[in-house]
Amino acid sequence: MSKQILILPGDGIGPEIMAEAVKVLELANEKYSLDFEFSHDVIGGAAIDKHGVPLADETLDRARAADAVLLGAVGGPKWDKIDRDIRPERGLLKIRAQLGLFGNLRPAILYPQLADASSLKPEIVAGLDILIVRELTGGIYFGSPRGVRELENGERQAYDTLPYSESEIRRIARVGFDMARVRGKKLCSVDKANVLASSQLWREIVEQVALDYPDVELSHMYVDNAAMQLVRAPKQFDVIVTDNLFGDILSDQASMLTGSIGMLPSASLDTNNKGMYEPCHGSAPDIAGLGIANPLATILSVSMMLRYSFSLGDAADAIEKAVSLVLDQGLRTGDIWSQGCTKVGTQEMGDAVVAALRNL
Ligand code: IPM
Ligand code: MG
Repeated sequence: MSKQILILPGDGIGPEIMAEAVKVLELANEKYSLDFEFSHDVIGGAAIDKHGVPLADETLDRARAADAVLLGAVGGPKWDKIDRDIRPERGLLKIRAQLGLFGNLRPAILYPQLADASSLKPEIVAGLDILIVRELTGGIYFGSPRGVRELENGERQAYDTLPYSESEIRRIARVGFDMARVRGKKLCSVDKANVLASSQLWREIVEQVALDYPDVELSHMYVDNAAMQLVRAPKQFDVIVTDNLFGDILSDQASMLTGSIGMLPSASLDTNNKGMYEPCHGSAPDIAGLGIANPLATILSVSMMLRYSFSLGDAADAIEKAVSLVLDQGLRTGDIWSQGCTKVGTQEMGDAVVAALRNL
């Protein structure tokens, strides 16, 4: 039976990078006879323009019915002044929550060819291979109550809430342990248990879950220390599991170790490994339409989709190999360019990956 892939390019550079990722996906579809069918829809600012909301019900229904979703990026200055409840980012948060995509995998892998593009010394990052497992449908992103209230003195006060239930912690901890088990067998749980109640429960539950994984070495780290360790000695980490907000911040930080956030893919999975795949970077409105954005994070998200939603490890490996071959050829978009390499645009980069994949 054919598998349905819903494509949501989004805003800013989203449509440009998605066009390249779709070329790669179409080639993989043909080359490996994958029997994928594609449909397209809008999300974020593009959906606000079309439907007045950042995620229309019909789009959500399509996403529910699809076997996997591939997403570009959302947001831009055009919609910055809009009411907070219908900002483009709300569409992204809604689709994550409604599809139950609680497990967000953000691998930070340094391609050896890009060691010079990292802001850290090559010896600190050489061989870097970290996986950040971010809880994606709970915590302060979704907690209620939230809002703005007026204090007795007439001043406004804004507030958010950071709730985590035992079951939410348990299921993301399991994802962390499962991933660590098939990688370097080391899991670092990042929290702020010296201050936050939610983190204290987090730590307690992670320790309970650890009893089922005696083969995985568990450590705990406060988030401020983790931020410091990530730039001091990032190779000490194998898998990091953490909450929604800490994971958002630490994954951006980890991305720069690899040269550019333009290289980082992600997978967001539900309990059955149905997933949505998107680059970790945003819609980069400052470079939208210029044809210079790096499509590799989205192309690598396609590879994660094949691996996690469809268990097509060989096809996924081939896409990653094609990306590596293109880097070997010295082709670089501006964000990963260094002296001696050839600067290319979005489309040339996509075409080069397609050519490399075709020849594999
Ligand atoms: C990410 C992004 C989103 C987030 C934004 C766009 C809402 O930064 O995927 O990391 O904070 O989760
Ligand atoms: Mg982020």
